[in-house]
Amino acid sequence: MNEKKYYITTPIYYSSGNFHLGHCYTTVICDAIARFKRMDGFDVFYLTGTDEHGQKVQQRAEKAGVTPKQFVDGLYAQIVDLWKTLDISYDKFIRTTDGYHEKTVQKIYEKLLESGDIYKSEYEGLYCTPCEAFWTESQLVDGKCPDCGRKVVKQKEESYFFRLSKYQDRLIKFYEENPDFISPKSRMNEMINNFIKPGLKDLCISRTTFDWGVKLPFDPKHVAYVWVDALTNYVTALGYLQPNHENFEKYWPADLHMVGKEIVRFHTIIWPALLMALNLPLPKKVYGHGWLLFGDDKMSKSKGNVVDPFFLVKRYGVDPIRYFLLREIPFGSDGTYTNEALLTRTNADLVNDLGNLVSRTTAMVTQYFGGTIPKPNEYDELDKELIALCEGALVKVRKDMDALSAPDALCDIFKIVQRANKYIDETAPWTLNKQGEKDRLATVMYVLCECIRFAATLLKPFITKTSNTIFEKIGISSPDNFDGVVKFGGIKDGTTVIKGENLFNRLDVDKELKALDEIAAEQSENKADEKPSDDLIDINDFAKVKLVTAKVISCEKVAKSDKLLMFKLQVGNEVRQVVSGIAQHYAPEYMIGKSVVLVKNLKPAKIRGVESNGMILCCDDDGKVVFVTPEKDVESGKVVR
Ligand code: ME8
Ligand code: MG
Repeated sequence: MNEKKYYITTPIYYSSGNFHLGHCYTTVICDAIARFKRMDGFDVFYLTGTDEHGQKVQQRAEKAGVTPKQFVDGLYAQIVDLWKTLDISYDKFIRTTDGYHEKTVQKIYEKLLESGDIYKSEYEGLYCTPCEAFWTESQLVDGKCPDCGRKVVKQKEESYFFRLSKYQDRLIKFYEENPDFISPKSRMNEMINNFIKPGLKDLCISRTTFDWGVKLPFDPKHVAYVWVDALTNYVTALGYLQPNHENFEKYWPADLHMVGKEIVRFHTIIWPALLMALNLPLPKKVYGHGWLLFGDDKMSKSKGNVVDPFFLVKRYGVDPIRYFLLREIPFGSDGTYTNEALLTRTNADLVNDLGNLVSRTTAMVTQYFGGTIPKPNEYDELDKELIALCEGALVKVRKDMDALSAPDALCDIFKIVQRANKYIDETAPWTLNKQGEKDRLATVMYVLCECIRFAATLLKPFITKTSNTIFEKIGISSPDNFDGVVKFGGIKDGTTVIKGENLFNRLDVDKELKALDEIAAEQSENKADEKPSDDLIDINDFAKVKLVTAKVISCEKVAKSDKLLMFKLQVGNEVRQVVSGIAQHYAPEYMIGKSVVLVKNLKPAKIRGVESNGMILCCDDDGKVVFVTPEKDVESGKVVR
């Protein structure tokens, strides 16, 4: 087996359209890793693709009045364009509607049936359509899907099941023997405690209520569960169970499945169990990265789409966007996108540090040496410090990348850039020039050019376009490996620099922020004119409803009404009178002392002549009314959101 192979995958993307900057995170990170590994001598296979089956796609297509295939074709075109815009260097793009994939999924189901890992039974469960996931009652959060917070629906159907429970012990053993399988570590504990320990249930892996999916060869009214269809992409893309399976032999098992934290569960429980059932080796690592959050609500999706990656790349260029994603978000944790963070990060690192170093150096080489990089003379202590920094960088950056931390890697590369800028101030080439110290000046220029060469080489996996531009400027061809950044002194004499334009233009942060706000406002106006396609509200709408905790001080029946109860509620320092129609479900004395949730800013109303200031939240459980109460004792008057 080839030891220096590296198989890296992103999840395959739901064809939901309207891709935002958050979607680009997984792919850009994987791209940086893939490019780094290639330059570091690995035979890399980088896979991405689209997840095109399922009920959600079928429903969306219906709504749009097109066939599901037409629907996903449009979105496929959009995402391919997005990856091109972001300079993503994937080796293969798989679509789950590709014929070879569909056929192989069928073969996989047949294999699992033969091995006894699949059986037929009946499923009744709570299903979240957007996530295409079944949940048990106890997994729900506030009665809603724990992943996306949306409504789940009861579904009952004849289904095939995968014997997931059978693999519980083997999974635990595998985790124990491979403690780095799930990263970061915290996610491993989450999987064990929340999913494995409570006991794995067999998994429903076929559906009959819709047909946009891979038909089961042995029972074609069933289509494959989308997650099984989707997860198997990682092997079908390599030719597994197909005539041409060279790539499968060469690249499987995967070295890294990079996924967002919300889908770690599928990749670390279901996927390994399926692989065990197929007698295939397990992937070496699943990394669950954090989310890019859109903290500044001005930028939220409802208010126009300034987090539209196409827009951002067009306005600022691809490298500032890649750089921001790779540098700003602490890897493994969530990070926040704001326009301000993007602009200040670009100015600080790319314009000031990197851009200045390159423009100052090329300007000086042009001014003092007619554009030809001079031969260095003897190095002094200061020079040696920079040389050591450069020569030590690859080892450090490689270590950072092995830990999958692009922010650390970039930090270490920028140490060269920052040190070199300081070196210009320390050596003051303009003074050397004035004093006629040409020999020293030559060494300083050479050291600076070398620093730039080292930085640009190491930056190549991250900011692809800028690195190439830098090489053009210092008159060297762009390297495709790291061989040249082991030893200082790679620039040959006679190399000529081109000063040319600045790498990046300084952004006027205040002006840009204003412009972006205006664009966002304009887009949101345009959006408001569009007919809303569903009944979703945005967070600002929700924020209009003031919910608080309240404690029942007293409760009695409203005279001449068999439905109404009148409450006196403690709400912080305030006492509220509220009328609620729950008398048929709760006895007044039972309610005393209970904590409830109150809609505080409801307009006052008179109900049967009794004034009511607010509303107590209840759920309707098929006609039975149940009031909502905090899970732990909470003081009254606390905000509920
Ligand atoms: O989950 N920040 O696809 P997907 C960071 N089809 N990452 C984000 C993000 C954000 N705000 N929003 C999305 C699926 N992502 C399945 C995968 S694999 C066999 C099937 C990331 O389109 C998300 O975490 O919902 C995931 O890694 C990727 O975008 C695709 O998500
Ligand atoms: Mg998702």
